Amino acid sequence: MKKYKRYTITSALPYANGPIHIGHLAGVYIPADIYVRYLRQRGKDVIFICGSDEHGVPITIKARQEGVSPKVIVDRYHIIIKKSFEDFGISFDIYSRTSNKTHFDTASEFFKKLYEKGAFIEKTTEQYYDEEAKQFLADRYITGTCPHCNNEKAYGDQCEKCGTSLNATDLINPKSTISGSKPIKKETSHWFLPLDKYETFLRKWILEEHKDWKANVYGQCKSWLDLGLQPRAVSRDLDWGVPVPIDGAKGKVLYVWFDAPIGYISATKELTNDWEKYWKDEDTRLIHFIGKDNIVFHCIMFPAMLKAEGSFILPENVPANEFLNLEGDKISTSRNWAVWLHEYLEDFPDKQDVLRYALCANMPETKDNDFTWKDFQSRNNNELVAILGNFVNRAMVLTSKYFDGKVPVKGNVTIVETELNRAIIKLKKNLEYSIENFRFREALKALIDIARLGNKYLADSEPWKIFKTEPEKVATILYYSLQIAGALTSLCEPFLPFTSKKLCKMLNLSPQKWDNIGEQHPLAEGHILGESFLLFAKIEDEEIQKQIEKLQKTKTMNEQVSLSVEPSKSEITFDDFSKMDIRIGTVLEAERVPKTQKLLKLKVDTGLDIRNLISGIAEYYSPESIIGKQVCILANLQPRNIKGVESKGMILMACGPDGVLKLVSPSELSVNGSIVK
Ligand code: MF3
Ligand code: ZN
Repeated sequence: MKKYKRYTITSALPYANGPIHIGHLAGVYIPADIYVRYLRQRGKDVIFICGSDEHGVPITIKARQEGVSPKVIVDRYHIIIKKSFEDFGISFDIYSRTSNKTHFDTASEFFKKLYEKGAFIEKTTEQYYDEEAKQFLADRYITGTCPHCNNEKAYGDQCEKCGTSLNATDLINPKSTISGSKPIKKETSHWFLPLDKYETFLRKWILEEHKDWKANVYGQCKSWLDLGLQPRAVSRDLDWGVPVPIDGAKGKVLYVWFDAPIGYISATKELTNDWEKYWKDEDTRLIHFIGKDNIVFHCIMFPAMLKAEGSFILPENVPANEFLNLEGDKISTSRNWAVWLHEYLEDFPDKQDVLRYALCANMPETKDNDFTWKDFQSRNNNELVAILGNFVNRAMVLTSKYFDGKVPVKGNVTIVETELNRAIIKLKKNLEYSIENFRFREALKALIDIARLGNKYLADSEPWKIFKTEPEKVATILYYSLQIAGALTSLCEPFLPFTSKKLCKMLNLSPQKWDNIGEQHPLAEGHILGESFLLFAKIEDEEIQKQIEKLQKTKTMNEQVSLSVEPSKSEITFDDFSKMDIRIGTVLEAERVPKTQKLLKLKVDTGLDIRNLISGIAEYYSPESIIGKQVCILANLQPRNIKGVESKGMILMACGPDGVLKLVSPSELSVNGSIVK
């Protein structure tokens, strides 16, 4: 294989429209991070690039849903995502963002260069236009009836019910999701990259020269190429993105899939003035880590762009993963079917490596794969605790007991130790080979097998039984066990960086050179070890049950929402609304109304007065739980006599499709009598 001087490793720029979850980690960032940490340990010149993808329809949709500007959205999620990556030890050399100036300049120059070379064709096509909102509609902004399955809520790019990918013009009864109006077809002109012209080049480059790519990646490229490539628009009618940098292109921005991959280059520019060698020197190995939905963009479109530009190298490999499912269902942000990284850390503080381990062990390398909490628990309890943690702990505790926490004398080496050493070197080779070939599950298995060997060595030689009679032999056994623990500090680092640090501390050892592992013994006789502690703790059934119940709740909620949200009521004027005098008040007293199931009698401070109210919430709130709460009251409702008590006004409730009532309260403590308007 070719010897490379340096490595440029990129991982897909996540859309800054939501936090990230385990699917992102398992699919892209953990494999990339393992690979990069490994290369660094081998002394390679490597840069690891990522950042937020802040343009495109996914961002504008989220902004519209919340009624804020796209900038508010990307600023918010950029910070959240960046923090999650830091928390989980994803060791980017830079985490940039596509809204910054370097990126705007880089993407504009790239476009201009292609434009000046005549690489684009300009074409006028008909597209849906919303006359009320006065804008062209991206496919995602159009809904209508699917021509295949009659689902009335299909999107312009895809029907999520039958899975067919669509063109917006295929939809029956199209409707703009922005204004609700029926869109018209209107002409617009755009710049297209004629991918068909690159077909010969791409066929040769991928299908002949890159038979070494992963089967899932190669297969997807082949089917795209066999279908034949079409010119692809590289601009959009949108007001969010990098403006098309030529005269007469007002209101047009670069297509997000044109600017985002250039983000890898802009981020490198920000990282180092010496950026060109990482992108233009044939001795650089460029590798893109991505998920399977990104394959066509990284294997066909971006390489065609780079080729058209002419001065850049092409990716040498694109080790895309398939998808990770969660408990048998597709991970979905909109259905909240996910394990969010920030939530995981709240529930399992300091257990980043446990998740990294479980995700690596289940990485969807060749096919979609499932994450389950039960598997997570058993990976932790049966592998991390029982094998890795247990081995290290036994070696530490026995050394402290018999040798006062000092590395004992090596003594007489037998065939057992020689073979042990040989076996470890072999596993280390396997581990290296597996990482270099993007087989991370296999690599992780080699790692755990090394700890397994150590464990077996201790179990077979039973030093605790022979100390009285053969203390020199016990010294040899522990000497060797500690050397294995020392080797593990480096070998586990790509996968379990936090554990590696802890282990170094425990052994009182600084990080070892990878190439020395198995060749030299990291711990000298007499070396004083650090304090011993447990690297991993057992995860109990209750903790797992809590997670499963949390997901179950999500599922029930989703089912209710899709079942029976009440239809909207007829329109009212603002005057109708302002007749209602809604106030914030505090519940002072509460008691059950005798002989009823549902009613509570409340005394409430409304700011206007202190009054009695009857409320039908006794099935959901006990009197004790409601005293002191702030609530919303419809204060000017005609008084009514309920069960012999005068009730003045009404407490407002959120009522779900299941009929469950929840109090509506101000999000922060408010002055009693505050008006709700
Ligand atoms: N934001 C895209 C996604 O989440 C990935 C962009 S990768 C890049 O699917 F190459 F465009 F940067
Ligand atoms: Zn359909």
